[in-house]
Amino acid sequence: MKDTPIDPQVVRRRREESGLPDLGGASIRELVRLVNLIEKDSGQRFVRMEMGVPGLAPPEVGTLAEIQALRSGVASKYPMIEGIEPLKNEISRFVKLFLNQDVDPRGCLPTVGSMQGALVAFLVANRTRADRRGTLFIDPGFPVQKQQLKLLGQDFDSFDVYDYRGLKLRDKLESMIVEGKISSLLYSNPNNPAWICFTENELQTIGELANKYDVVVIEDLAYFGMDFRNDYSKPGQPPYQPTVANYTDNYIFLISSSKAFSYAGQRVGSLVVSDKLFERRFPDLKRYYKTDGFGYSVIYGALYPLSAGVTHSAQFGMAAMLKAANDGEFNFVDTVRIYGDRAKRMKDLFTANGFNIVYDHDEELPLADGFYFTFSYPGMTGSQLLESLIYYGISAISLAITGSSRLEGLRACVSQVSDDQIDDLAFRLERFRADHKF
Ligand SMILES: Cc1ncc(COP(=O)(O)O)c(C=O)c1O
Repeated sequence: MKDTPIDPQVVRRRREESGLPDLGGASIRELVRLVNLIEKDSGQRFVRMEMGVPGLAPPEVGTLAEIQALRSGVASKYPMIEGIEPLKNEISRFVKLFLNQDVDPRGCLPTVGSMQGALVAFLVANRTRADRRGTLFIDPGFPVQKQQLKLLGQDFDSFDVYDYRGLKLRDKLESMIVEGKISSLLYSNPNNPAWICFTENELQTIGELANKYDVVVIEDLAYFGMDFRNDYSKPGQPPYQPTVANYTDNYIFLISSSKAFSYAGQRVGSLVVSDKLFERRFPDLKRYYKTDGFGYSVIYGALYPLSAGVTHSAQFGMAAMLKAANDGEFNFVDTVRIYGDRAKRMKDLFTANGFNIVYDHDEELPLADGFYFTFSYPGMTGSQLLESLIYYGISAISLAITGSSRLEGLRACVSQVSDDQIDDLAFRLERFRADHKF
């Protein structure tokens, strides 16, 4: 065994004790646990890139609003299931000012994170027609959403968009929609894990096919405004965050506060149902819900039995942050731009040491630098790379668990890497390269 930056004996022992057959198949939380143990035993700090958690402080405006709400006694009162009025209004304003879409506050609903938003969307959208199956994922994607469908006993299908960008998307997507008889379509944009961003053409294709086959598009905007190649930060001014809503009325937005607002701990996000979809009636919904109304079923059929609403004070916090953003007093995009700068530096280090960026283009445009990037090393599978990098104090996750067909790839999250670790990362990557000639 070579003399690696992390004591190889510690790594080997903890690796064996973990009982994980293959790190390439390990979940994010399993990797977090393993790395925590190795860090503790070795006394050495990893360059931790496995988990997508915000690396910034929460905005003061949110924290203060929550404190004030708690002091005023909201903790003893059940919040309305459909959300407190100020928050519904601010979500609706946010959708107008940053996406340029009109949605009535009625369909702007707080959720316990976007995680619950996705669950609710599946629970209703995938029950609209008895003769259809579940969700089609445009992958790579966020693994827990598939776990949610398994939990619900609903079907899903997926394909890796890597080989189907641009004009190739239409035929592929259409074939999957027809074959799969799907009810809903889900993708994140910007994408976790690949950080690809769909072009206007691609969004138009998705929207047109959603219209043609009457499919609900669940647009997951967990990384809202974070394609830093464009400035989406000015309320009411173009350019706006790109969206499928410019091409179809059949949409649900999932707007998380976790990353764009560094508010992951409060577990508050929003689910936005388009006005048309909110109003629609699907007789088959009555198999599960009291009415055939889509919007009504979302609120009283799904949100109610799941959690009867969202923590009262967290709703005030989110309302205050959105209000500040809507009023132009808080530039939430500028706050997180640091992730893009860091990603650029880190990607440069990886490529200078023989690594490749796996997902590297949006059609002809070079990929944006943001919260995640994907990488590989010549001659190694993702699993082998992950197993080896642990000895060099670098952790990531395998693309294999994200529905990607690029089994050589790993996903890096930049949020937890601090400036004072960049030199260490450079040193470790150089060592890795020296030990792994290709
Ligand atoms: C694509 C995507 N969707 C949803 C979520 C979950 O967001 P929340 O923390 O709001 O539940 C994440 C979190 O990592 C994500 O990456």
